[in-house]
Parts: sequence; structure tokens; C-alpha cells
Amino acid sequence: MSDILFPVKPEIAATAHVNAEQYKAIYARAATDPAGYWAEECKRIAWMKPPTRILSGDFHGDVRVKWFEDGTLNASVSCLDRHLATRGDQVAIIWESDDPNVSTKITYRQLYEQVCRFANALKVLGVRKGDRVCIYLPMVVEAAVAMLACARLGAAHTVVFGGFSPDSLAQRIKDAGVRVLITADEGRRGGRKVPLKANSDAALRQCPDVHSVVVVKVTGGDVPMQTGRDHDYATLCAAASPDCPPTEMNAEDPLFVLYTSGSTGQPKGALHTTGGYMVWASYTHELVFDYRPGEVYWCTADVGWVTGHTYIVYGPLANGATTLMFEGVPTYPDASRFWQVVDKHQVNIFYTAPTAIRSLMREGEAPVEKTSRKSLRLLGSVGEPINPEAWLWYHRVVGEHRCPIVDTWWQTENGGIMISPLIGAIALKPGSATRPLPGVLPVLVDAEGRELEGEVEGNLCIKAPWPGMMRTVYGDHDRFVQTYFSTYKGYYFTGDGARRDADGYFWITGRVDDVINVAGHRMGTAEVESALVAHPKVAEAAVVGFPHDIKGQGIYAYVTLKVGEEPNDALRKELIAWVRKEIGPIAAPDTLQWAPSLPKTRSGKIMRRILRKIAANETDGLGDTSTLADPSVVKDLIEHRAG
Ligand code: PRX
Repeated sequence: MSDILFPVKPEIAATAHVNAEQYKAIYARAATDPAGYWAEECKRIAWMKPPTRILSGDFHGDVRVKWFEDGTLNASVSCLDRHLATRGDQVAIIWESDDPNVSTKITYRQLYEQVCRFANALKVLGVRKGDRVCIYLPMVVEAAVAMLACARLGAAHTVVFGGFSPDSLAQRIKDAGVRVLITADEGRRGGRKVPLKANSDAALRQCPDVHSVVVVKVTGGDVPMQTGRDHDYATLCAAASPDCPPTEMNAEDPLFVLYTSGSTGQPKGALHTTGGYMVWASYTHELVFDYRPGEVYWCTADVGWVTGHTYIVYGPLANGATTLMFEGVPTYPDASRFWQVVDKHQVNIFYTAPTAIRSLMREGEAPVEKTSRKSLRLLGSVGEPINPEAWLWYHRVVGEHRCPIVDTWWQTENGGIMISPLIGAIALKPGSATRPLPGVLPVLVDAEGRELEGEVEGNLCIKAPWPGMMRTVYGDHDRFVQTYFSTYKGYYFTGDGARRDADGYFWITGRVDDVINVAGHRMGTAEVESALVAHPKVAEAAVVGFPHDIKGQGIYAYVTLKVGEEPNDALRKELIAWVRKEIGPIAAPDTLQWAPSLPKTRSGKIMRRILRKIAANETDGLGDTSTLADPSVVKDLIEHRAG
């Protein structure tokens, strides 16, 4: 753990939205009088009918939390309509293509018109308030347009990351009861093409309820269009009216469903509602990035993840920012790309993932140093713990000691940032997400759910509702209560472990459940295991995470074959490719070890603790193995350790 401290610079404290004194005051206010505090703060978004009832419900019983429940609004109005008078001609989205020679800019007025047209087009296809619409698009402006068009109609969008397989797409479409899909001919990433329409066609063979597919032409690739079902995006929009009144939504009506992996079963649809989410998106974007009007802001995430939802689309647009959308990858055409884009568009605020920083660090300082980066003022990190070495490199090489770094901890379920430095208020420690934002009450609890005080390590829980929290698992409220509120009664359990130091700073240590964080992407070990056992030659599989230099964690799979099957290299490759096809490239195991049998307790439970140690090559400290049904299994696994 790093004990280096970077104090708040006085010149930053003098101009930042929040200084140390203000932080203390608003933190205390939000903790003791949440209703009063958020009654004021909720005015930052546009309401049709402003709320008078601010908060109801808590983390007990069946956890029916409601924020702003008698207010009405439409999220797209906060992001578009209300900016037209003051900044209609300001750039809303800068789009930077995978190809470094191509970029476009679109103003708030143009974005507004595109959203209205597409919303009308969706209406013609039968989309109504309360429906779910699936968006399976690459990083193009149309992805933001599609999200906002759904919001305008009051239909919840469910965005599926373009790297997911047809099966994963189909599973989400079916779970959410989707009938309209928005996709593209192909995506582009790092000079390669992603066959989104072909994947969609494959997925839809399992989804008879989808009656309409809208296809955005991105590459112009030749893709088959099914008459009656498939529609060209541009043709639909050209025929649609540019005038589309926003649908009046209750604050607690759904804005979107986003699937995320947990420790058991299939991915869950995290449901976020309109009022609380929008307030949280706007509030956290302004405070954490210390956003000021006129600045260019760039979050490198994909809109398929929650970071893209909150910090490419809803947060920045609600705040009238200029938000940059990048179609490509950090290393294409070369490792200088991020910084070239920063210079090209004079980016002031830059937000990325530790895995990207580590992969660029490996390429040395030259690709960074050949660019200016003088426009940069603030750097951010999200998605996984950032190791102090990567933090310090980011600070010294990219930010030239000038730019504070906000290491932001949060989750899909949270809607927005929860623990993060505020650059005018909180001294930085490399590797620590530092302190909770106002409105966030984190606690560390022991295995029995008792709150721990002072300098201590424990399970990270949140004690009270905040506006941006998810409200339910789509279609399965029991699973919501079971997953998040049953481990420690009365608390939201994050699934993360953390340490609190003597200064009250939080250091996230990573997941304490069976979820792995691969390059900032969440993957349930159970999902990878069920993909593996779906292969006809596999009898059993156990999957764990292991430390990986670039990705943070890699995927390590132990596979037991069916009797009579021969383990060999060709089969190993086939199984890795199988998982890739079943779930998507992000789920492909980095290492696959043949396991004649798995270490199990006498009651048949796989002892993952041991498998994790072997995968991490920490075989000296295996701990107690006496409860195993057959302790000799472990010796064999250690001897044949892969990688
Ligand atoms: O383990 C934590 C890790 O990512 C998990 C949430 O993943 P997801 O829902 O996909 O959202 C990612 C982006 C918000 C958390 O449970 N995580 C996220 N940010 C950090 C982090 N771990 C340490 N430090 C962070 N800054």
C-alpha cells in the first residue's frame, strides 16, 4: 500500500466546486438530512412537476426505495431541450472514429433533432411508454441518440456491449422482453470489424418476439436485410418528424435496464429509474470531474457498460458538457492514440480504466511524450483497483504532475460514482479511492455483519439509500433483495472488500465473491463454468481469477473431461474458443488446466480458495486442506499447474 500523499493544491481548492470545508459541511448535511439536501440538489435537473416527497423506503424488508416519487420528468429534456436556449450551438458530442483521420461534431440542437426524429421513427415501429428496447451498437453517435430517443418515449433501453456473443445478446433480449432491436451493419475497433448484424440475426433466431430491427450503417458492409423486420436507420429518420414532445414520466419509472454479472446464475438486469438516476448522474459528474461549462470531457468507456451510460451520455449531457465518444482502442494505430485525440480535441478532463493505463505503460513514455496534453486538467480512473505504480505513471507521465487523479469506485448497481476524491477537497493517495461522496454512507462489516470502526479491513456495505441506486432486478425483485440485502441485514452489500486507513480513506481490495474483474469488466465465474460444461466433452469446470499484469485479473479455468476424453492442446484451444463463442471474447479463459478431479469438501462443495491459490502460484500458503474429501487432488493440481 502506498503512503504517498498528494495534498490539495491551493490554486485548485480556490476554484473547485467543493473545497475541504465545504466537503465536510455538505457530507454532514447529506448524511443527517438526506431529504433536505436532495430536495435542493434535485433542482439540477429539469422537472415537469417538481417532487415534494423526496425519499421513502430503506434497506429493510423488501427494500422498496423511492426517490422524488411524486415528481415527473423526462430524462431527455434535461439532456437536450433545456440547453437549446443557452447552448444550442455548442458541441454536445465529439465523435472520434477508429480511423484517426475521421471525426465529427454535433451540436445540442442537432442532437436534439436527431433524437426527436429517431424517437418518432421508433413510435412508428410500435415502441410505447413502458416497453424495453435493446441497443446493440458500436461507439457511434447513434448509440447516444438511440438511448435518448428511448428515454424520450418512456421506453427503457437495455444496451448490450458489442463484444457479447449472439447467445448473450439473445439471453438479455428474452429476459427483458424486448421486441425492438437497434443494431449496426458492423462495428469497427482497432482496424477490425465486428459483425453486429450477423450476431443479431443469429441471436434473433432464438427471439421470436422481436418484430423490428433498426440497422445503422456504420461500415457500409453488405448485410442481409429481412423484409418486414429490418429497417435502415437513416431512411426511417429521414421520413420522421423532427418534433417529438417528451413523454411525462414518474421519477420512479424505469430509464434503463443494464445486465451485469454476479456470483450466481445468469446476469441480472439492474433497473435504474428516471429521477434519482439523473440527479446522481448530474451531481457526480459535476462534483467529481469538477466540470465547468465549455470544457471538453472524455470518458473512454463503451456505452455498453454503466460507465458509458452515466459518464458519456446522461451525466455530461445533463450538465451541458461537450462529451467525446471514441470508437477505437488505446493502441490503434499506435500507443499514442489517446494523447493524440486529447490534443486534437483539446480535452480537459480524461477518464479511463487502469487496464488501459497499464497496457500503455508497457509501451514506455515516448508515445505519451511526443504529444502536448497541455489541455488536460483532471484525470480519472474507474473499473478496478489501480495499483500505485500505474497511478504514479499516469500522474507523472500523462498528467505531468499537474493533473489530480480521481480514482472513482462504484458499480453498475450504484448508478454513479460513490467513493472518489474531490480535487479541491481531498488529498490524494495513489491506489485509494479516498472518501465517500456526500450522500454515500459506506461501512465495513465483519462476517457477522457487525460494523467495524477505525483502521480495519472488512466487507464494504452501504448503510442508507442514495438517489442513483438500482431499484430492483428486472422481473425478479426477490433476487434483488436476496443478492444485495440478505448477506448483512439492513445493508446494501457491494461484494467488494476494502480497508480503511487511519485517515478514514478507503482502499478497495477487490471482490470477495465469485466475480472476477477482467480488464475492468465484470464476469461471474459461474457463467464461464456453465459455458464450459455446456461443451459435450466437459464433465466439470471450476473458474477463478488470478493476478494479471495488464488486465488486473485473468480467468483461470480448471476442467475435468468426461471419461474417455483425451486432454490435448487442440481441445484446450477448442474449449477457449467455445467460451468466446458462447459468452464473448471478454470471457475467454487466459489459462486452462486439466483437472482429473477438483478439490471438494465431503459435502461436495468445490474449495475455490485452494484453486485461487494454485492459479496465483501461491502454493506455499494453501491453508487447511483437511476438510477435503480427497486431499491428494491438490498435489496433482499443483504439479500440473498451467501457465
Ligand atoms: O470490484 C469493484 C470494481 O468494479 C466492480 C463494479 O463493476 P461494474 O459494475 O462493472 O462497474 C464498473 C464501473 C463502475 C466493483 O464491485 N471497481 C470499480 N471501480 C473501482 C473498482 N475497484 C477498485 N477501485 C475502483 N475505482
